[in-house]
Amino acid sequence: MPLPPSARADIERLWSTIERSAEIGRGREGGLARLALGDADRDMRDVFVGWCREAGLAVTVDKAGNIFARRAGRENDLPPVLMGSHLDTQANGGRFDGIVGVLGALEVARTLNDLGHVTRRPLEIVNWSNEEGARFSPPMLASGCFAGAYALDFVHDRPADDGPRFGEELARIGYLGEAPVGGRDVDAYFELHIEQGPILDAERVAVGVVTHAYSSHGFLVEFRGETAHTGPWPMDRRRNALVAAARLLVAVDDIGWDFAATGGKATAARLAAWPNRAGILSDWAQAVCDVRHDDPAASAVMAERVLRAAAEAAARAGCAAEIVDRWDWGGRIFDPELIASVRHHAGLLGYSHRDLPSQAGHDAYFLARICPTAMIFTPCRGGITHNNAEFASRDDLAPGLNVLLHCAVARADR
Ligand code: GLV
Ligand code: MN
Ligand code: MN
Ligand code: MN
Repeated sequence: MPLPPSARADIERLWSTIERSAEIGRGREGGLARLALGDADRDMRDVFVGWCREAGLAVTVDKAGNIFARRAGRENDLPPVLMGSHLDTQANGGRFDGIVGVLGALEVARTLNDLGHVTRRPLEIVNWSNEEGARFSPPMLASGCFAGAYALDFVHDRPADDGPRFGEELARIGYLGEAPVGGRDVDAYFELHIEQGPILDAERVAVGVVTHAYSSHGFLVEFRGETAHTGPWPMDRRRNALVAAARLLVAVDDIGWDFAATGGKATAARLAAWPNRAGILSDWAQAVCDVRHDDPAASAVMAERVLRAAAEAAARAGCAAEIVDRWDWGGRIFDPELIASVRHHAGLLGYSHRDLPSQAGHDAYFLARICPTAMIFTPCRGGITHNNAEFASRDDLAPGLNVLLHCAVARADR
């Protein structure tokens, strides 16, 4: 029996899981600070796994800490349809970014249980580890590993900005699983996410059909200099790594302004230095930055300028620069058939919808490398995100949730 077009997920039940999630790793005034593999991330994972088991799903954890909760289908040798996102947050994160995609997928499974609908292919809900990259660089680390972009050793070796390695932290919180990471067939991947931009909210459009992603390039650059006394040491012999990193970051902001008229973005995201104290020059500094543009040719020029700016900043400060990490994502990566399905189901269910690109990073970008992938955006108030004031109401979320339900089931029943 096909899923009746009248089938709807239970938005109140989704909302109650979002409220419970909002209590775990509380950040500033109503927001979340649930950084990847910290204690709060562990607590949230434990709650999520409990919910999945209660819903009758089979939970597995892979060696990158990704959690999969499988709902059996009628033909369980077929590759599954995956739905998910991330439960980790930024240091001043909101209650919806990523969370809606994971808990929304759980709500889809619960709804199908209520309806007694068994899909042809199995469905799997996934929580990807460290989407944000706020504590371990780069972002989307574990979905990248699943898609074969990063080796498992590289993943386990990533240092947290507060010291421990990714693999150590996974073991400490009890989520260093046994399952191999990736290397298996996936029929399709759907990710429901708040827009994280103002378009849908401003235009009062219910569903965002994500057609493609901004082309983005991120960099983690380290500068090496030499410590010295800030008083007697001559200006022309200084090798202050802090200055080199600061010069790069200001140059990155300038690049953003140069491309602002055509929608380009460039962000100075992080500056760390050592010893970073009064009275001494720093011999080590780290800068994190990224550039993004809808036009891949423009983003490539922006990235080139970042590399040049890093070399110039190092030379002017008498330091050495090294690009320690670089990540590149985006472009026309989503599957035309799945995009059409999102558009079709939004219309069928009577929701207003529009096409738009994604400007933020998402696990879907890596999944798109190994299987047909699509994203569904919901409005969020004022487009505010990575901010404790991030908000999406039940009315904002319900249409996207129902589109996820119908798209995932249509695919899984195919
Ligand atoms: C990651 O989520 C990003 O968009 O920077
Ligand atoms: Mn997100
Ligand atoms: Mn985010
Ligand atoms: Mn993101």
